[in-house]
Amino acid sequence: MKLPLCRLVWIDGSYVPLEQATIPITTHAMHYGTTIFEGVRAYWNGENLNVFRLDDHIRRFRRSGGFYGISLNHTDSEVSDAITGICRENKLRESCYVRPFYFVGNHGINLHVTPDAPTVMAAFAFPFGDLFEKGGISAVTSSWRKFSDASTPVQAKMGGNYLNSIIATGEAKKAGADEAILLDLSGNVSEAPGENIFAVIDGRLVTPTLASSALEGITRNTILEVARAAGIEAVEQDMTRAEMMSAQEVFLSGTAAEITPVTIIDSKRIGDGGGPGPVTREMMERYTDIVMGRAPEYADRWLTPVYGA
Ligand SMILES: Cc1ncc(COP(=O)(O)O)c(C=O)c1O
Repeated sequence: MKLPLCRLVWIDGSYVPLEQATIPITTHAMHYGTTIFEGVRAYWNGENLNVFRLDDHIRRFRRSGGFYGISLNHTDSEVSDAITGICRENKLRESCYVRPFYFVGNHGINLHVTPDAPTVMAAFAFPFGDLFEKGGISAVTSSWRKFSDASTPVQAKMGGNYLNSIIATGEAKKAGADEAILLDLSGNVSEAPGENIFAVIDGRLVTPTLASSALEGITRNTILEVARAAGIEAVEQDMTRAEMMSAQEVFLSGTAAEITPVTIIDSKRIGDGGGPGPVTREMMERYTDIVMGRAPEYADRWLTPVYGA
């Protein structure tokens, strides 16, 4: 992701200059990965900056810590104000990425984390465009498997969980690919290190079920709903690697990646090799219309204006 960060960051209700936002080396999260985060996008449409699906991000934010009994000591409305406020205070009038997070602070050398363990919440923002090349990227199937709920809760968006993503990403980059695709423990397709995956198989839009250890992505949910409303058959079902490799189209979805076509997997061209296919292009267009506020049927539900609300 691109730096630089905006000058002001939010910590537990105050806006402070970035260089003053430091934490002690004894912070529990530094040692044990006890940090919960969200990735949120806000889109500038020439008139206003709109945060996409803010309420859903806040719901997942709180729920992630809940799996571990880690407390988010701010109300939903305070978290909402932090996310919109960090954009406003930094006078952002361009599309940006916001990273709210909370973590266990000074809690000693202690693996017994209870709801009264001290936590700190912070948020920062930065202008942000495309994460990936939108004309299509290459991916490789990772030799690392996606961890499952048998080890740690997959739906907890927590620092420690991302070591699995980091090792898979490193392997993919070393192999010269743009991204990794992880299989679940039983060998079905799960997701990418920071994105969900969709494939067009026999004319249907398919994404792996949550039982394949995929994160319940907000973009994934958006795509399922919008595709169905547009008359595209969209289903959650197990996906084998062979089905993915022989799909007509494959794309990744995520707040950062938005909708990113995957045109090569394990050196094999996907579909007819002519770039993003028609379903992918249609979903990309619909998604852009929605986040830019050009789809009135979704604007009220999914867009939160930063200015003049
Ligand atoms: C592991 C993983 N899967 C999927 C996603 C996509 O989720 P969302 O669409 O909510 O950003 C993300 C990003 O948050 C992620 O980190």
